[in-house]
This record gives sequence, structure tokens and C-alpha cells, in this order.
Amino acid sequence: MPPAAPSQAVLSAREAETAASQAAAACSTVAELEAAIKAFEGCGLKATATNTVIARGNPAAPLMIIGEAPGRDEDAQGRPFVGESGQLLDRMLKAIGRDESNVYISNILFWRPPGNRDPSSEEILACKPFIERLIELVQPRLIACAGKHAAATLLGTNQGITRIRGRWQEYRRGAVVIPAMPLLHPAYLLRQPGVKREAWQDMQALAEKLARLEGQG
Ligand code: URA
Repeated sequence: MPPAAPSQAVLSAREAETAASQAAAACSTVAELEAAIKAFEGCGLKATATNTVIARGNPAAPLMIIGEAPGRDEDAQGRPFVGESGQLLDRMLKAIGRDESNVYISNILFWRPPGNRDPSSEEILACKPFIERLIELVQPRLIACAGKHAAATLLGTNQGITRIRGRWQEYRRGAVVIPAMPLLHPAYLLRQPGVKREAWQDMQALAEKLARLEGQG
């Protein structure tokens, strides 16, 4: 019997990242990229997830919010940020005049880590080429990274989120440079309601910059 071809589940982290980069680069539309993510077998989280969770909202929106990973509700429904923290995020966005018509929402991971554990660096690396390509295809004017993992992955910072929240950074990849704001994760706000004031300041800073950019056309 011929030896079985190695399954993607046993790819090394480096091989998974290369496979993801190649699959992502071959996509020239958001729909193609969504199909490529759903077909990707290089992230171990897929084995325990119910759904692949990619994005919701308007891919032509000027603001892209990027969180960490689907939780239980997102995994069940196949849509990001639909559970309790997503509902808080929606209320915060509504307060600055934003909803699914003018925001695009995604995560750095497309499958739920079991029990909502922290993602491993291998899992993050396997998914990163896809979120990078999604940003490239959507071309938002501004990015908001919700929580430490999104900020560390996309902005390359190791500083704690409570330290860098509210301070404009840049998302850079090749020729793409997009202003990016690290935000406290809404799940953290649910646990620590005392920091809502800071979160509100950050939303206002986002709203002001968006208004300026939209005014420039
Ligand atoms: N937390 C996240 O970071 N993303 C979701 O989609 C849901 C909860």
C-alpha cells in the first residue's frame, strides 16, 4: 500500500503558515478568501470547532474591528462577536453612529479555541496570512484591534493592552499602512466595568479620526 499523504493537521507551524500564505495570496476577492479559509486544514482549532467564523458587517466600510477568536456563541452561529461581548461592542459602536452598514468585524482566528483558552502562537501564525489578506482586500481607512492578542499579532507590539489602548499605532504590511487603535477587549470591559470611561474615550478618538478621514473623502 502506498504511504498515506501527510494530512495538513500534521503540518509544522511553518508549513501551515506557508500553506496559508499561498492560499491567501491566490484570492482576489473577499468571497474567494472566505472559501479558502473554510477549506484550510492547517489550523488545529478547526477539528474541535462547529463553524468557521470569518466576518460580519460591510467589507466596504471605512472601519475594521479585529478581535481575538470566536467564543461559544460565535462558533454556534458562524458569525463573529454575536455573544455577550459582541453585543457590548455593538452598543459601543452604536454610540458613535456605527453599525453593520459601516463597520466590518473579524478576528485574528477563525475557529474557537476549546473552552475559550488563549490561542497558541502556532494557531495565530496559521491564521495570520488570512487576516492580513482580508485587510488588504477590504482596505479599511482605520483598524481597531480589540484585546492584546489582536494588537500583538497585527501591530507587533508586546506592550500590555492597558498600556497601549487609545494610542494610535500603524498597521504595516508591505505598501499597506493603516492607522490602528488598540482597544480594551469588550469581554474585559464586561469583567471590569470600572474601565468603561477609558473605553469610551477610545471610541470617541476612533469616531473623531473617522469623521476627519470621511470628510477628506
Ligand atoms: N471575542 C472575540 O475576540 N471575538 C469574537 O468574535 C467573540 C468574542
